[in-house]
Amino acid sequence: MDKQSWAEPYKIKMVELLKMTTREEREKAIEEAGFNTFLLRSEDVYIDLLTDSGVGAMSDRQWAGMMMGDESYAGSRNFYHLEQTVKDYYSYQFTVPTHQGRGAENILSQILIKDGDFVPGNMYFTTTRLHQELAGGTFVDVIIDEAHDSASTHPFKGNVDLDKLNRLVEEVGSEKIPYICIATCVNMAGGQPISISNLKEVRRWCDQHQIMLVHDMTRVAENAYFIQQREEGYQNKSVKEIVYEICSLTDAATMSSKKDAMVNIGGFLAMNDAELYERACELVVVYEGLHTYGGMAGRDMEALAIGIKESVDDAHMAARIGQVAYLGRELEKHGVPIVKPYGGHAIFLDAQAILKHVPQENFPAQALAAALYVESGVRSMERGVVSAGRNKDTGENYYPKLELVRLTIPRRVYTQAHMDVVVESVAQVMEDAESIKGLEFIYEPKMLRFFQGRFKQIS
Ligand code: F0G
Repeated sequence: MDKQSWAEPYKIKMVELLKMTTREEREKAIEEAGFNTFLLRSEDVYIDLLTDSGVGAMSDRQWAGMMMGDESYAGSRNFYHLEQTVKDYYSYQFTVPTHQGRGAENILSQILIKDGDFVPGNMYFTTTRLHQELAGGTFVDVIIDEAHDSASTHPFKGNVDLDKLNRLVEEVGSEKIPYICIATCVNMAGGQPISISNLKEVRRWCDQHQIMLVHDMTRVAENAYFIQQREEGYQNKSVKEIVYEICSLTDAATMSSKKDAMVNIGGFLAMNDAELYERACELVVVYEGLHTYGGMAGRDMEALAIGIKESVDDAHMAARIGQVAYLGRELEKHGVPIVKPYGGHAIFLDAQAILKHVPQENFPAQALAAALYVESGVRSMERGVVSAGRNKDTGENYYPKLELVRLTIPRRVYTQAHMDVVVESVAQVMEDAESIKGLEFIYEPKMLRFFQGRFKQIS
């Protein structure tokens, strides 16, 4: 029998009560929020699938760790525990804590990028690309074409197309490429992994061209689990071993520990190069805090060190990815068009396929996320043209091939019954799709417009 059960390797010790709302209340709430799910009050949300960032449930051990916080300004015991854990689990020799992932991106971009540089990556992430641009760089997408095709079932849609890298070097020269940024389990591609064999090829390419390889390791454990399940020769390796191997292939890393590592806040910049570490230490005191806390409380660093160890447990990861796959399978049974294969942290609805009557310039994914909230209080997030923003030189909208709504699953938070509610709500919204109207901006922020932009319905 093909075993599909994925029961959690934990039990529930404490619960957080939720408010149930009526449809009328939700209609009013989304209107007040300018049809932007980021602007809803979380009180008015029933099942919150906005993000998997900072919303995981910490374990009893992590909470116990919080009580062991050493809140000294300098040289906190918890920093040394974190630094040692990063060495042991992720292989990086030096760790600079930051308040979250984008703090690390800012420091790294400022140190390495010069005006006119190009930074290739396996698809962009919003904050990562913006920090590269603010430092004077231009992001170049070098992910394989399959990643932009929601119907492709390629097992490693996070892979890099080396021909695209070669073409970039021919066009601009390797001296204009300070580093390559490789994300594990690529968020914007739908939570899709990169294979070890592809990463090894990228490593060889970087050595050949003497270009640094930086790892956005926000969801590295989820990527490692997919390698274990899908890549030849890795079936008998543990997630922990695979995580270590992935990190060892790269030179430095930015981490948002609010995802894989299951803490509510925190991140770091890690590296093996002593000189890069020195420069990062100089900058971290400007933007974050002293290099032994970087914007994190001692207790948060302790919870993070413990969370890293829990994140690479095979049973944890099987349940984590199992729950996401359960949601994907059930949606498919109802004929919902979603990105395949199922992602690590989320299921992505193909909004353009669901709202065929709404052109991309009227933000179908934004409209679909708002409609889903009104239907049942399920909060999701747009990942399409609104998130993609505008080209910094031409001012034109980027029109990505993927116009998606992300149903992001927080770690260790919701039950299978919650997933069933989500499935029923999405199916209902699909049935009523024709009544959903497109949107237009009434307020458009200049940067990262998806966070605070406001919309109205087109009549
Ligand atoms: N890199 C990736 C791949 C991310 O998914 C995120 C955040 C960051 C960097 C930035 O980290 O939020 O700690 O500053 N992603 C969140 C999300 C916001 O909802 O996908 P941060």
